[in-house]
Amino acid sequence: MKINGQPYRTIWEAADGKSVEVIDQRKLPHIFDTVRLDNVERYAWAISDMVIRGAPLIGVCAAYGLATAMFENSSDDGLALAYERLIGTRPTAVNLRWSLDRMRGFFMGMVPEARASSGFALARSIAEEDVQLSAAIGRHGAEIIQRAWSAKGQKGPVNILTHCNAGWLAAVDWGTATSPIYHAVAQGVPVHVYVDETRPRNQGASLTAFELNEEGVPHSVIVDNAGGHLMQHGQVDLCIVGSDRTTSTGDVCNKIGTYLKALAAKDNDVPFYAALPFSTIDWSLAEGVRSIPIETRSDEEVTHVSGKMDDGMIATVQITPDGSSAYNPAFDVTPARLVTGIITERGVAPATEAGLRALYA
Ligand code: MRU
Repeated sequence: MKINGQPYRTIWEAADGKSVEVIDQRKLPHIFDTVRLDNVERYAWAISDMVIRGAPLIGVCAAYGLATAMFENSSDDGLALAYERLIGTRPTAVNLRWSLDRMRGFFMGMVPEARASSGFALARSIAEEDVQLSAAIGRHGAEIIQRAWSAKGQKGPVNILTHCNAGWLAAVDWGTATSPIYHAVAQGVPVHVYVDETRPRNQGASLTAFELNEEGVPHSVIVDNAGGHLMQHGQVDLCIVGSDRTTSTGDVCNKIGTYLKALAAKDNDVPFYAALPFSTIDWSLAEGVRSIPIETRSDEEVTHVSGKMDDGMIATVQITPDGSSAYNPAFDVTPARLVTGIITERGVAPATEAGLRALYA
């Protein structure tokens, strides 16, 4: 997708053939900067510190991380150490494990001396595959938006509420929740997006709004608590969110606050969709609320906020009293009964085990 009219992806290979560059998402929307990842520690830092984030991109970045690690130490021990370092970076998004397992399986099938020269090719194909998956999610999801527009007699825009950033910045390109929006807009459907700001890190206000702005998609940033009110007043036609891990039974884990939006959607008969590629489905889990590991992040993300000052400088300020502690679970689980459907690269499934298995036989 575009930044300043120029097409970008979130991650690309550096000229040396053994490192990558990524957009530093901590600085958006005010500063565009890139960061070079050229050893396994740098990759681990970039994922844990959220230089890059979003389930699909975490997976792709980790795949490149393991490939880069093979230039440092391609022995079985080196592979095991790099795998452990990367898998420990963030616990919730299952795409991380999926891509690292895929890379490790590939490396284990060859002699250590061959690993450095072949790892980037597989990481590249995982990245390219992610682009295709997101595009296919967009095509299937756009049909839902088209139908919502028809249901309104093609009057006014389709109002879509989204939470966090499940956009192209969370993937390699297109995104998951925003891909249907970009596809529908390209098909001529008028869309307006309500963007939850998504405290504490404000991925909605800073990243989703940035993306939509750059793509010229009409949107309004709303505070996290506004969604229920808007739904009660008929101002939201449908919700589309992403996911970090979805169980085989259709429970959807996503950024903290998603569950409350799904409850409000259910109470107001607003369709609630999760958009995700197959790599986000954890087939080993039949239940999400008790089984999915929820990342707890630092208190400081809650007690402080960052933004641009009137003089253009970026500043971080404390918003809580000295001495108040905080608690910061980063994700929650929306039970399948609240999910209208799961938009995948293979089509839209009911949020049930039978529905998902029918798509992924
Ligand atoms: O903590 P983050 O910013 O990595 O959380 C991102 C989300 O919760 C996204 O909605 C999710 O990863 C889906 S991304 C297509």
